[in-house]
This record gives sequence, structure tokens and C-alpha cells, in this order.
Amino acid sequence: MSPPPQIEFRGIAKRFPGVQALDGVSFSVAPGSCHALIGENGAGKSTLGKILAGILSADAGTLLLEGRPITPATPLEARALGIAMVHQELAFCPNLSVAENLCLGDLPTRRGGWVDRAALHRRARALLAEIGADLDPARLIGSLSTAQEQLVQIAAAIGTGARVIVMDEPSSSLSAGETRELFRLVRSLTARGITLVYVSHRLEELFALCDTLTVLRDGRHVWTGPIRQTTPGEVVTRMIGRELRVETPTHLTQTLGAEVLRVEDLSSPGRFSGVELSLRAGEVVGLAGLVGAGRSETLQAIFGLDPRAEGRVFVRGQPLRLGSVDAALAAGLGLLPEDRKRQGLVLGLTCRENVSLAALPALSRFGWVRRAAERTQARHFSERLRVKAPNIESLVAGLSGGNQQKIALAKWLARSCDILLIDEPTRGVDVGAKAEIYPLLDELAREGKAILVVSSELPELLGLCRRILVMRAGRLVGDVPRADATEASLMRLMAGVAADCAA
Ligand SMILES: Nc1ncnc2c1ncn2[C@@H]1O[C@H](COP(=O)(O)OP(=O)(O)OP(=O)(O)O)[C@@H](O)[C@H]1O
Ligand SMILES: [Mg+2]
Repeated sequence: MSPPPQIEFRGIAKRFPGVQALDGVSFSVAPGSCHALIGENGAGKSTLGKILAGILSADAGTLLLEGRPITPATPLEARALGIAMVHQELAFCPNLSVAENLCLGDLPTRRGGWVDRAALHRRARALLAEIGADLDPARLIGSLSTAQEQLVQIAAAIGTGARVIVMDEPSSSLSAGETRELFRLVRSLTARGITLVYVSHRLEELFALCDTLTVLRDGRHVWTGPIRQTTPGEVVTRMIGRELRVETPTHLTQTLGAEVLRVEDLSSPGRFSGVELSLRAGEVVGLAGLVGAGRSETLQAIFGLDPRAEGRVFVRGQPLRLGSVDAALAAGLGLLPEDRKRQGLVLGLTCRENVSLAALPALSRFGWVRRAAERTQARHFSERLRVKAPNIESLVAGLSGGNQQKIALAKWLARSCDILLIDEPTRGVDVGAKAEIYPLLDELAREGKAILVVSSELPELLGLCRRILVMRAGRLVGDVPRADATEASLMRLMAGVAADCAA
């Protein structure tokens, strides 16, 4: 007799006010499998993971662990059953050290109840070594990169004896190198018989890592099967219920307008230096580079967010005062920041408020966009981006990750900016929504807006841009026209291989 599935979902349902997040979902996960979970933004992936990990409880249905029904009512109960979830954010206390977070709940003490620091660090180091992570246990969680925090979460899961780990978009904020490390770790975990439920929008990643795949659509189960028996194209069709058309942007063939943005010798101590670039009306220019190359920092400095920036920025020939967001906004610049939670959105406000809010990133000043026209436009963009929310008055905090990203994008599209600086426009966004976002950017370029876009996804830049600038270690090292750009040529510039041809 074959062993029972490690996990079985039977008729799982979950409703939030206004949405049926999950509707009778049934499928099983084999022991030791790396099971991919894919679906459009809002399909219910995170909700399903959270039910398994005891963070949410299902309204109906049964959860079985090795054939036995379980009802984990809290994350702690799930942990006791050997189930853990690795989150994207806010999993730990940022003010505590790695060691304290790893051993929370079971701090080693000395006589008198004092925490035994030496023992604490020893144990933490052992837990980290277990997954091959080289991290100082004394560091504060708040000082870690996303990748490092993820390692701590995984170490904590393994340390508490997890047999099943849900990973929710673990690679979405990692650099290429960090992603390779993550893959290595995932493979070693499954080799040890640990079962993984792996949520990601990146098909190539799922096809490289996972053995089985489940597709959800609108809270319903669509398909489960061996990954070898399907193709990325089929998966997309199952996900979005239609075939995806990829069209070459039409802005590429139009004549460019006058120069609208010119950056000369822009530097910020310790972040980037000597950046020179120019952008013309109707032009879409990409900014490629590895994580840490200074791409986001450059956008922030142009937008006035870097008080230490030096150099010259001209908008339509007029010098722009550096270090002033007000000046940047008045000149018609807009910035969609990379970290939507920290800089782009106010989670406690509704979709409508967020879109029509002239809240400035990283500033605590609020002003209202009064013009009705802008509000109409806000609705237009949320509709075009197919934001999945009960309605425009829903709180942004309740939206799925990808839908939050769409709201952040809609907010900036709705402002009538002539020059858009966009940082990672499609992070966490499903393939169907990407196919909505690209034509939108194309349309904006056709209207004569100039767009500077940072992306870690090279195919995205190759598809969208007229030319691609490459940054490495805080410097611009290439300006590659579309016709000459390939993933390989850009990667070489980004990584500094063949540096002689880079200048
Ligand atoms: N706490 C909540 N309150 C209200 N609605 C919620 C809440 N959590 C999720 N939802 C809704 O449930 C649906 C499923 O959300 P879920 O986060 O599971 O989607 P997802 O598949 O993980 O999407 P993404 O790819 O964007 O992360 C969405 O419509 C979302 O808006
Ligand atoms: Mg999600």
C-alpha cells in the first residue's frame, strides 16, 4: 500500500468580507515533494498556505497530515505538528537578535532565570549551521537583508522539527546569487525528506525546482499533476483561463520627442557616483544591474529623496533643485518605489484613497488630490490593471501582495507625471497582470511620457525598453540599444565579466 499523502486538502473553503478566497479546494501533497502552488494575484495561494500553517482557519473542509485530520488553530499548534511557513515580511521581532528570535519560546537560562547568552548563541549557531547559513547570531533581525531573514526563518522551522514548510514567494526579493543559494537549500531540504509547498509567480523557477504543480484560479482548484507532464504555456492558460499574447510595444516605432530629463555627474557618497543619463519624451529606458548596484538609489536621488546627492539634474532644460521631493513633483516627476509596503502604500487606507492620495514616498506629509478628473483616472487605472478587490473602498491591507503592487502602480499612473521613475514594476505580480502592465506603460510612452524603469527581470527590460543602461557597483557601465541587448550581453555587463568592452 502506498503511504498516505503528507498533506491533503479536502474541500477547503475560506471567505473574507466580500471575497470567497478559497472555494472547495482539494488536492494532496506527496511526502518529500517540492510542490509548486501557482495562480494569479488573489487566487488564494497565501490563504491556503496560512490555513496549513495555523495562521488562518478554514470555514469548511478538512486538512489531513499523513492521513490524520488536523486543525491547527495557531502557528504554534502547526509548529507542534511539524508545519511551518516562511513569510516575506514581519515574521520576527526586528529589535531582537538572530539568536533570540531563533530560540524564542525556549531561551536557555542560567540559575536565577538570566538568559544564558553563551548557550543561546551556541544553539543559534548550530541551527544556522544545520542549513549551511553563515550568519552572526548576535546581529539584530532588523539589520538583515531579506535573504538573510529568510534563512533565519528556515533555520527556525528546521530547528523546531518542521517536516512541512510553506514558502510564500521566497525568491521575489532576492538577487540572482541569493536565489541560487535558496535553490540549493530547497534541494537539500527535500533531499532530507522535508515536504515543501512552494509559491511563486516565476514559472522557470517552479519548473527547475518542483516535482508537482497545483494551479488555483479564483479560489478554486484547477489542476494538480507532475510538472514533467505539463509546460509553462499550459500552466499559464490554466492560471488565467485564456492564452497570453505577447506583443511588441508600439512606442518603439514612434519618433522621440525632446529631451526631458538630463542627469549629469550625479553622485551620492557610498551609494553611486558619476551617473550621467538622458531621457526623451516618449522614451522608455531600462536600468539593469545586480542588487546593490545603485539602481534604486539613483532613482531616489533624481526624485529628491537623497539629501546627500550631488551633481546636476535638468528637467526640460531647467535645473532641478536636488534633495527636494517638492521640486521633483512640481517638475512633473513621479517615483514608484521598490518597497511598496514601506514607501508606496498606506495599508490602513482604502484602494481609492491610496490611488488618489498624493502621499509622498518616505515623507509623512499628506495632501489630497482634489481634482475629480484624477480620481476618475485612478479608477480607470485600477480597472485596467484588473485589481482584484471587493470594491474600490476596500482596505489595501486586505489585498493579496500582487494586487497591492497594482494599486501602488495605479497611484502613480493616476498622477499626471511626465517623467516616471519606476522601480520593479512587476515584483510579485502574476503573468496575466504583467501582460496588462506592459501595454499600459507602452500607452504612457506613446502619450509622450518618459519612463525610466529599474527591473531585475531582464526579459522585462528587453521587451519594454528602447535602450538599457547597466549599473555595476555604483557606476553606469553600459548604454545598450535594444537591437544589441540580449540577456547574456546584459548579464556580462552587470557582473563585470569582459569589463574591457563595458565602457
Ligand atoms: N485578511 C484579509 N482580509 C480580506 N481579504 C483578504 C485577506 N487576505 C486575503 N484576502 C483576499 O483573499 C483573496 C486571496 O488572497 P491571497 O493573498 O490568498 O492571494 P494570493 O494567491 O496569495 O495572491 P498574490 O499572488 O497576489 O500573493 C484575495 O482576493 C484577497 O484580497
Ligand atoms: Mg500571496
